[in-house]
Amino acid sequence: METLTFFFLLFPLLNIFFLCSCEVPQTTLYLPITKDASTLQYITEVGQRTPLVPIKLFVHLAGRSLWVDCDKGYKSSTYKPAVCNSTLCSFANSHACGDCLFKSQLQPGCNNNTCYIWGENPLINSYMDRAEIAEDILAIGSTPGVRITWQRFIFTCVESYLARRLANGVTGIAGFGHESPLSIPNQLGLDPTLNKKFGMCLSSSTRSRGVIFIGSGPYYVYNPKKVDISKNLVYTKVITNRGFLLSEEYYIQVSSIRIAGQDVPLNRTLLSIDKNNGVGGTKISSTIPFTILHTSIYDAVKIAFIKALPKNVTLVEPPMKRFGVCFSSKNIRSTKVGPDVPLIDFLLHKPSAFWRIYGANSVVQVKKDVMCLAFVGREQTWEPSIVIGGHQLEENLLVFDLPKKKIGFGSSLKLKQTSCSMYDNIIQA
Ligand SMILES: *[C@@H]1O[C@H](CO)[C@@H](O)[C@H](O)[C@H]1NC(C)=O
Ligand SMILES: *[C@@H]1O[C@H](CO)[C@@H](O)[C@H](O)[C@H]1NC(C)=O
Ligand SMILES: *[C@@H]1O[C@H](CO)[C@@H](O)[C@H](O)[C@H]1NC(C)=O
Ligand SMILES: *[C@@H]1O[C@H](CO)[C@@H](O)[C@H](O)[C@H]1NC(C)=O
Repeated sequence: METLTFFFLLFPLLNIFFLCSCEVPQTTLYLPITKDASTLQYITEVGQRTPLVPIKLFVHLAGRSLWVDCDKGYKSSTYKPAVCNSTLCSFANSHACGDCLFKSQLQPGCNNNTCYIWGENPLINSYMDRAEIAEDILAIGSTPGVRITWQRFIFTCVESYLARRLANGVTGIAGFGHESPLSIPNQLGLDPTLNKKFGMCLSSSTRSRGVIFIGSGPYYVYNPKKVDISKNLVYTKVITNRGFLLSEEYYIQVSSIRIAGQDVPLNRTLLSIDKNNGVGGTKISSTIPFTILHTSIYDAVKIAFIKALPKNVTLVEPPMKRFGVCFSSKNIRSTKVGPDVPLIDFLLHKPSAFWRIYGANSVVQVKKDVMCLAFVGREQTWEPSIVIGGHQLEENLLVFDLPKKKIGFGSSLKLKQTSCSMYDNIIQA
């Protein structure tokens, strides 16, 4: 495996040749994702170290690496920090090197003559410039897919302050960034049986697990018949935002929003990225529970949505600050794709490529007989104008194809009478 990986690194053209002629059988790895009931964070679990221990990680699509809080008693006989100026440091695009200065004794995360990259926590909007690069054993994947034990998985070791606001029991972040060589898809994709492609299917329930599929697919769920949900997706390209130095974020072009078939009048300037400062545009995030819209976009969406609601639906005072539009659900019928409310379409790079958001993803029941539009309006001064978040993504498959720099949108799995948690017909039948 070691030699093979190296070989494939050196000869990317041969790699393509091998994959296409199917010399190496392709597999799919399944990474179960749970939704934490109190924080609404999406959490996964892997095994790491010697002896192997289970660790819980917060899923961060734009994360540069897998990092763990090493102040929480990291013990492993196979931990190897990256020695300054080694090939590992250059492979990882390390920006700095140094000694352990702030702890009384050396420990994982604080060694002498080691190199660093940046560590980040989007929940607290915080960075750390001395995230120690290291290698250790990683066991990843669960049934019904393969489980891979990686002898020298590259990750980073950070201090506790970066781990603030992670859900109870979670000790790190699983990064799925597209540029960083240390991100999970970029490292696992070096295995000739996998590739740098993954599908994220988040469950809307805190009681049943969703999944991230890693590999070329097919991605199966059951209804109870086996369905390949990686087919018939609407693809759009990933836009690189050069305005941000560290951006691993998945930006896409949203060119307009349609509600009940009508274009919502929007300030178009906000929909594209400002080339000078990287502000504006649309990104996809696994770290926020509800889609955030720039206030001017939110206000236009709100007006169009209210206008399209049936006349016998009455608005009510929002019971919580987060949401700005709430209404009585007494006269709202339910359908197989959730409450029968106006359809919201996000038009992508061209009008025929759109992602449709049904009731199950556009509104949320906040108490008996009260529903709210599940979008959050915010002054996004230095931020993207639209950040597509958890509630809108749940029970929809999104495929991230890194080599082709494109993202595929599926529609609600409820249309196919299935869900993201039906990926394992044995456990969750
Ligand atoms: C190691 O790399 C740093 C820059 O990252 C450089 O300043 C230093 O001279 C190098 N040391 C050796 C021994 O090559
Ligand atoms: C690690 O580096 C620090 C600071 O350069 C030095 O004081 C300490 O002796 C070193 N420790 C070891 C074990 O080499
Ligand atoms: C549209 O948004 C841009 C960027 O925030 C702003 O400078 C401009 O004034 C807005 N245009 C209108 C008509 O509101
Ligand atoms: C409310 O209005 C909708 C559409 O106008 C209609 O289909 C529905 O039957 C009405 N519901 C009630 C309870 O009147």
